[in-house]
Amino acid sequence: ETGLITSDLGYKSTGATKSAITFLNGEKGVLRYRGYPIEQLAEKSSFLEVAYLLIYGDLPGADELSKFRDGITRHTLIHEDMKMLYEGYPAKAHPMGVLASMIGALSTFYPNAQGSELDPEEVDLTIRRLIAKITTIAAWSYRKSQGFPIMYPQNKLDYCSNFLHMMFALPTEEYEINPTIVKALNTLLILHADHEQNCSASTVRMAGSSHASLYAAITAGVCALWGPLHGGANQQVIEMLEQIHSEGSDVARMVEKAKDKSSDFRLMGFGHRVYKNFDPRAKIIKKVADEVLNELHIEDPLLEIAKSLEEVALNDSYFVERKLYPNVDFYSGILYRAIGIPTEMFTVMFALGRLPGWIAQWKEMRDNNEPISRPRQIYVGPNKRDYVDLENR
Ligand code: SDX
Repeated sequence: ETGLITSDLGYKSTGATKSAITFLNGEKGVLRYRGYPIEQLAEKSSFLEVAYLLIYGDLPGADELSKFRDGITRHTLIHEDMKMLYEGYPAKAHPMGVLASMIGALSTFYPNAQGSELDPEEVDLTIRRLIAKITTIAAWSYRKSQGFPIMYPQNKLDYCSNFLHMMFALPTEEYEINPTIVKALNTLLILHADHEQNCSASTVRMAGSSHASLYAAITAGVCALWGPLHGGANQQVIEMLEQIHSEGSDVARMVEKAKDKSSDFRLMGFGHRVYKNFDPRAKIIKKVADEVLNELHIEDPLLEIAKSLEEVALNDSYFVERKLYPNVDFYSGILYRAIGIPTEMFTVMFALGRLPGWIAQWKEMRDNNEPISRPRQIYVGPNKRDYVDLENR
């Protein structure tokens, strides 16, 4: 006997996830939300419209969209007592840690959408609260970390403009909403909105399958996204490009370093578990980054470094053989920088974008009455053996 494979013990283990939300073909570099190609949504849709599409399964009519949007706008405030939470955080608290704890705390202030009997109206209210309040939590925590006064939401503004206003407006002067920046933020959030069974979405489904609250499942997703191999990569890409820029080192050396197995350095923003072709999101972000930097008259040397890094890597057999292409994180940081988002907030921005996808995945899992997630294992440990008393060891 080399160790039992315990799958025959009759547990109702869950197999591969069935989902109707996002279609992804990694070989061909295809990504669709509820059947709609990401290229069309990025060009023509808005983030809230895509959020509705992912969560409720179809593009909303004008009336449904305005109800959904108004239902979110009126929930952008957070309970005043929640301020004591982030006011107690040290200025250098990790933004993802603050986000996770604040979203978790929402279940204390708004206890609903949990347990085995869900009230659909309560679920819809919780969905709108989450999409609304994540912007306020993210912006206010950032303001607190910078020692700035908080800016209250302006319900007359659209979702992205409201977030930018809370992030960057000052009570002492008029804040001008820049339509180029608003459109770029919309596109970034749309491109991050869902991505099939990625690490954090699977975490949300698994946590939610125990019938914990939707807030608890989203908190688990935030924690999974935090990792540098997942949502933390966009920040690491910028740090890598800045290192090349500051050291004046050539990109070929960075590529060689990424191939060297003796170090655990990887070319951040490159490679993907599923895409073995270009990540379609990376293509769109690269094009939008060019356009936005042009329109805003920004000369960012990191964009040119990123382009030459991509060119060297894509002509290097190591990357070609392993089908390693730029992923969504490779250019997103350059676009976030161009619209003023500080590097330490990049992964928080990823969470803002991914929230509707997490919600959609949780809702599908609960609507389908899926059993508690209980993956099985292949046991490879030692066979049965008898205890040895301490004096005989
Ligand atoms: C996201 O799943 C999703 O959909 C995620 C995401 C989403 O929207 O939710 O798309 C968002 O997480 C994008 C990925 C962001 N992470 C990074 O950019 C970090 C850098 N990338 C790598 O760590 C890696 O490519 C992963 C983690 C993304 C994927 O890793 P895999 O599929 O487990 O690939 P692997 O580790 O098996 O690598 C296969 C080979 C290995 O070499 P060999 O053992 O065959 O010699 O490719 C090498 C790896 O060493 N490799 C890299 C590399 N990525 C893989 N070598 C250098 N640089 C890299 N970036």
